[in-house]
Amino acid sequence: MNKNRIYCFSGTGNCLDLAKNIARHIGGADIVMMRSAPVDTDARDARCVGFVFPCYGGGAPEDVLRFAKTIQVSPDAYTFGISQSSSYAGTGLAALNDVIPLRYWRAVTHQCSCIWLFPHTLMIPPLSPEKAQKRSEKLAREIAQDVLARRLSPKAPPKNALNAAENKAWPLIAKKKAAAFKVSASCIGCGQCARLCPRGNIRVEYGRAVIGRDCIQCLGCLQYCPQKAISLGKITDKREHYHNPNVSAEELCEKIISIS
Ligand SMILES: Cc1cc2nc3c(=O)[nH]c(=O)nc-3n(C[C@H](O)[C@H](O)[C@H](O)COP(=O)(O)O)c2cc1C
Repeated sequence: MNKNRIYCFSGTGNCLDLAKNIARHIGGADIVMMRSAPVDTDARDARCVGFVFPCYGGGAPEDVLRFAKTIQVSPDAYTFGISQSSSYAGTGLAALNDVIPLRYWRAVTHQCSCIWLFPHTLMIPPLSPEKAQKRSEKLAREIAQDVLARRLSPKAPPKNALNAAENKAWPLIAKKKAAAFKVSASCIGCGQCARLCPRGNIRVEYGRAVIGRDCIQCLGCLQYCPQKAISLGKITDKREHYHNPNVSAEELCEKIISIS
């Protein structure tokens, strides 16, 4: 195992891309994916343990916090948390800090991937996907420099009662929204969405994907569908699809990604 470990949740690749770039600039890391239960929760041998995850509905995806509770970290380890959102950081870092105290944290932005909520061009600052990607790579370098210097954040991540309430309601909103998934006749039954779904909520029946309600709205199924056969309300047919250009669906399905 590498001396650096990064636990990462990513629905549409932005956070995995960021985690990989941070890993490269800190001299390598094992990125343990936490889209579903992480395969290695014992990080006591790692000197540096990071978390990279998106903001979903005002805070961390519920599974990130649930899985973080199972991860063992050495009290001497340098810990860091990075939350990525399209516009506002929310309360995810504060919630993670309550589970695993973070020595360093940072909130960054990238393109939005919640296609039914906003177009992907919604991000602060407003940037084209190409410029947003370059900016994300620059931020990864900055974060890595801070991590290498073992920089400490002067304050704990901010708690925000409004975002906390939003985040508490989010799992219910996500499940309710899942009822609006439609799979069109252009589905070829390739099963990529089923392999991608972190909750195992999609199956292929008679050559077509069938999506259930146990959904956290990571939207990997919709955003990576090679046929654009998955929609989530009419608005999603009109909006341009987006996933991180450097992360394939296959890579997202991996359990541990070792970066040297
Ligand atoms: C279901 C869902 C909810 C989101 N909620 C928020 C939010 O509350 N605030 C925000 O600024 N961005 C929000 N976003 C945008 C994501 O945080 C952003 O697109 C992030 O880069 C996605 O990372 P990923 O590609 O690794 O999944 C949301 C995205 C999704 C899919």
